[in-house]
Amino acid sequence: MHVAIIMDGNGRWAKERGLPRIEGHRRGAMKVEDVTEWSADLGIRYLTLYAFSTENWKRPWDEVSFLFNLFVEFMKKKIRKMKREGVRVRVIGRKEKLPDEVVNIWEWAEEETKSNDKIDLIIALNYGGRYEILDAVRKISSENITEIDEDTFRSYLYAPDVPDPDIVIRTSGEMRISNFLLWQIAYSELFFLKKYWPDFNREDLERVIDEFRKRHRRFGGI
Ligand code: IPE
Ligand code: IPE
Ligand code: MG
Repeated sequence: MHVAIIMDGNGRWAKERGLPRIEGHRRGAMKVEDVTEWSADLGIRYLTLYAFSTENWKRPWDEVSFLFNLFVEFMKKKIRKMKREGVRVRVIGRKEKLPDEVVNIWEWAEEETKSNDKIDLIIALNYGGRYEILDAVRKISSENITEIDEDTFRSYLYAPDVPDPDIVIRTSGEMRISNFLLWQIAYSELFFLKKYWPDFNREDLERVIDEFRKRHRRFGGI
């Protein structure tokens, strides 16, 4: 099973408490470790977390650089434990424009954990669904490939071996996709939670999975 989460609402979580937005991001980042553990416990094989979109560059540089620092700090602090616990860390997105330190730690984290297979923790960083599709198209055309079907196309995505998400969760009450995994979510079951990301808990995840099990996925059939 693959669960993908749009971790939204950090800023509003902080604002409601009279705190700076970055405090919300700090709390949000702390949830990443928890949600990885809960997911592994629940037998989820792939967990994708949307951490920074290609559109998030529109935010003030202070906030953007804080988010990159959080990513770097998270990797530095958690990678050893994740390595021990069977977590394979992967990052999807564009390396272009990211600070060197971010790209270095991204590559290091992937290398360190590449032989783990309990759960794949896939962080979407500087990720945009349209860019992912465009990057695939560019590569395909540079290789002069003319015969192209769904399977060939898929093999040019950032993480081709990862099955499509069964579940997409978005916190914060917004009901949109915001350029997340556009190709892969064609038949995903969507769940929109009112809570802000820093308040997301294990019960929320379990409830979504219970509800998912009751849904009837038809994939176009009857
Ligand atoms: C989600 O929280 C985290 C990122 C987009 C990096 P937001 O920062 O979008 O929080 P809100 O939506 O402003 O409350
Ligand atoms: C989506 O949240 C991106 C991430 C959670 C990383 P945003 O807060 O950027 O989305 P919009 O702007 O509300 O659509
Ligand atoms: Mg938001």
